[in-house]
Amino acid sequence: MKIAVIHGPNLRLLGTREPEIYGTLTLADIDRSLTDRARDLSVELEIFQSNHEGEILDFLEGLPGRVEGILINPAALTHTSVALRDGIAGVGLPTVEVHLSNVHARERFRRHSYVAPVAVGAVAGFGPSSYLLGLEALVGHLRRTPTS
Ligand code: DQA
Repeated sequence: MKIAVIHGPNLRLLGTREPEIYGTLTLADIDRSLTDRARDLSVELEIFQSNHEGEILDFLEGLPGRVEGILINPAALTHTSVALRDGIAGVGLPTVEVHLSNVHARERFRRHSYVAPVAVGAVAGFGPSSYLLGLEALVGHLRRTPTS
């Protein structure tokens, strides 16, 4: 089983970006722990980061037939991007949304997610563990509901 991991805008700044909100681990640290957990779960990851909405949409477009599911931290695009929502709905792959911070306990504009209605579910507020919990949830979902 193969899963795509997508990191949205500004997540390459993790480690130094607003550490009181996002912690001090870097994106490379998060990718390493995701890769370790994926190995334990016997799944393969394809990891992608971009600050550009269009690049994320191009990456999404290429996923059907290559991966079984998507783990995504859409970052700010969560709250702004109808195009990302449509792309996820369009590829039709089970998707889990993750956030490091508890977006519901922050500014009002972060409470709305365009992605949530097209996701299987979401994990937010557990720092880097949100990604690991999201991966486990996605793998569990895919193993319970095989597509073919
Ligand atoms: C984030 C939350 C978003 O509101 C924000 O724009 C981000 C990161 C998180 O992981 O907590 O860039 O997705």
